[in-house]
Amino acid sequence: MSQKYDPDILASEITTESVYQSRRRLLRAGLGSPLLLLAGCGPRDADAGASPIVTTSAKDSPDGFRTSESQTRFEDASSYNNFYEFGTGKADPARYAGSLRPSPWRVDIAGEAEVTGRFNLEDLLKGVAPQERIYRMRCVEGWSMVIPWLGLPLGDVLRKFKPTSRAKYVAFTSLADPRQMPGVSYDVLDWPYREGLRIDEAMHPLTLLATGMYGRALPNQNGAPLRLVVPWKYGFKGIKSIVKIEFTQKMPPTAWNVSAPEEYGFYSNVNPSVDHPRWSQKTERRISGTASKLFAERIETRPFNGYAAQVASMYSGMDLRKWF
Ligand code: MTE
Repeated sequence: MSQKYDPDILASEITTESVYQSRRRLLRAGLGSPLLLLAGCGPRDADAGASPIVTTSAKDSPDGFRTSESQTRFEDASSYNNFYEFGTGKADPARYAGSLRPSPWRVDIAGEAEVTGRFNLEDLLKGVAPQERIYRMRCVEGWSMVIPWLGLPLGDVLRKFKPTSRAKYVAFTSLADPRQMPGVSYDVLDWPYREGLRIDEAMHPLTLLATGMYGRALPNQNGAPLRLVVPWKYGFKGIKSIVKIEFTQKMPPTAWNVSAPEEYGFYSNVNPSVDHPRWSQKTERRISGTASKLFAERIETRPFNGYAAQVASMYSGMDLRKWF
């Protein structure tokens, strides 16, 4: 590892103690680049600066399926990732995810549905037409991208399994195989990575089960062969390499909420007026176009990541400070 570790910056200042300690273990094992690791789950030093805020003129299709905002380059979207099963540095997933075997792939469908069982990926997706969606993606750490996804509306896939009236939530689980994923041997998170949505969120037409991006299959580091994409929520809701989908009556536990409940709630809707306990969520660094990541422009973050017209009604009457 050629990068230098700067002992003057306490990583524990920008991440939770347990995650920090686990990252140190990862680091000692050679997984996780020290410099990027300090950037970890929190804004980088550069992000804290007072760079000018640029206002973008958002042009979205009325359904929100496509934005005309400048797209992130494939090279950036596939080399600056969070996928802790392969290390905590942003460059680690691209470097180490070659060991993931996305085919053949099976997904367990379980819980409150008439049809359950283990399905080959092809059978799981059969009968639902893939679509292209161009979405803004906002990471909780303060950067954002615009990505052309290929995928299927999650609701269309879920309906095939006939969820019962007791299905109030949908829980998702990632693969956690230490033979393919070196990072799961370290307790940086409570493996397997888990996420969840309320059933109406899961059925919302914007919610995508992605199988590709930029017109090709998902790169391993982006969550091959199957991941969730929920454009009005922070990026960590977008669980990668899904092996289980379960319909539940109760709100399911989620990886980041279990790890740091005071920092990451279940809903995690993008909300510029609710700060993360350790940093503001008012602006974001948009990684798009040909500009280097270091010079990404700072723009204002919008409620529900700019998808309020499509999704805000699902949360009417809820106190979004409490249900962050
Ligand atoms: N899914 C799994 N299984 N493991 C992870 O570490 N990281 C999440 C999410 N899904 C993560 C995951 C986080 S924090 C983000 S921001 C997005 O994936 C990043 O997706 P990207 O690398 O495709 O941009």
